[in-house]
Amino acid sequence: MESVQSIKQRFEIIGQDPKLNRALEKAIQVAPTDISVLVTGESGVGKESIPKIIHSLSHRKHAKYIAVNCGAIPEGTIDSELFGHEKGAFTGATQTRSGYFEVADGGTIFLDEVGELPLTTQVRLLRVLENGEFLKVGSSQVQKTDVRIVAATNVNMFEAIKKEKFREDLYYRLSTVEINIPPLRERQNDIHLLFRKFASDFGQKYKMPTIRLDDNAVQVLLKYRWPGNIRQLRNIAEQISVLEETRIISAMTLNGYLPSNSSSNLPAVVNQTKAESDFSNEREILYKVLFDMKGDLNDLKKLTMELLKNNDSQKVQEENENLIRKIYGDEDEEIETQEASSLEVLQLPEPALEKSYAGAAVQEDKYHFAEEIQEEETLSLQEKEIELIKKSLERNRGKRKAAAAELGISERTLYRKIKQYDL
Ligand SMILES: Nc1ncnc2c1ncn2[C@@H]1O[C@H](COP(=O)(O)OP(=O)(O)OP(=O)(O)O)[C@@H](O)[C@H]1O
Ligand SMILES: [Mg+2]
Repeated sequence: MESVQSIKQRFEIIGQDPKLNRALEKAIQVAPTDISVLVTGESGVGKESIPKIIHSLSHRKHAKYIAVNCGAIPEGTIDSELFGHEKGAFTGATQTRSGYFEVADGGTIFLDEVGELPLTTQVRLLRVLENGEFLKVGSSQVQKTDVRIVAATNVNMFEAIKKEKFREDLYYRLSTVEINIPPLRERQNDIHLLFRKFASDFGQKYKMPTIRLDDNAVQVLLKYRWPGNIRQLRNIAEQISVLEETRIISAMTLNGYLPSNSSSNLPAVVNQTKAESDFSNEREILYKVLFDMKGDLNDLKKLTMELLKNNDSQKVQEENENLIRKIYGDEDEEIETQEASSLEVLQLPEPALEKSYAGAAVQEDKYHFAEEIQEEETLSLQEKEIELIKKSLERNRGKRKAAAAELGISERTLYRKIKQYDL
């Protein structure tokens, strides 16, 4: 039987906490059987690696593994997605289609956020679990399948049963074995370890020296409640890696990144708003990168236009001195010295980070982010920029210098934007 340590390596799971080890042991033990498993735990604790471990250690490993996010599929189409449909079963069903239970025959299906399944789908699922039988939507012909189910939930299933949103019989069917992943706050020895790992990953990704927490900051890290668990910890390590120029992070700086009211030892209330705000923080970085890029592009357009209109480049240079300084100007020098000095402090073995190289890496990421955001965001960039500035000013209680530093722009630029948007 494969050891917990080798599973951790294979699935890049960091941590030595006994409760985490126990959860992994359980996954290894149950994997060779066909028993249904329910993975429980708060949002962001790392539930998703469990079904992958179970599948890859089972006799089903050469057959299909399909992960279905039950919360993300509209109620009207979920039965058809899972069980397939017959031609003409509903408007738009122009062809017969196989569902996941047919496609994954002999394999494993991971039903993530299983608590979100509509009651009618729960009835169909119960039948498959009991005797491997199902019907395509619009068909009366019973089909057979051999699928192993691993489900996950971050909601309290007993509550859902009490509110009649989840069938009790299905719950007991799904949870023959339950694997609980403990929240991060209960894995005290792993918190700093995970932070160091993420800091090192993001240092490499953004081609910057790795950030490091000073002793007081480590204490803050350990005391924090981490309502969004490992996902939140990773987001915060990424934000700090990108936004902070000084690479040794103090308790005060770290506190600035932790959503307020959560660093105390008050009883835990794991609410949605927290998780959302963590996500929006990650977005904030992306928007910031986009705004900077948009600003630079506008300035460059203006300059190119001048050059096209006017053949005398000397004259254009003189007349646009401010613009040229803004695009290529003194701010660059400032950053260069700061990077160099932080490198000295950390005594990294690599040769000093070259500005152009680092710049190129950031540039590459900007375009990558731009593509992703364009697809999913409908709000205008300007509105987002205003929102970002407002939030930063609020967070820094009107202290423009700190807000500018957080936004990664000069105070002068921030002042200009406050005027421009009448903030
Ligand atoms: N022990 C760990 N070591 C390294 N990374 C981890 C660990 N646990 C979780 N992660 C990372 O944290 C992130 C969140 O984990 P995951 O998606 O599994 O959360 P989840 O429990 O499914 O949360 P949700 O209920 O919100 O879906 C992932 O990027 C995952 O890779
Ligand atoms: Mg998940």
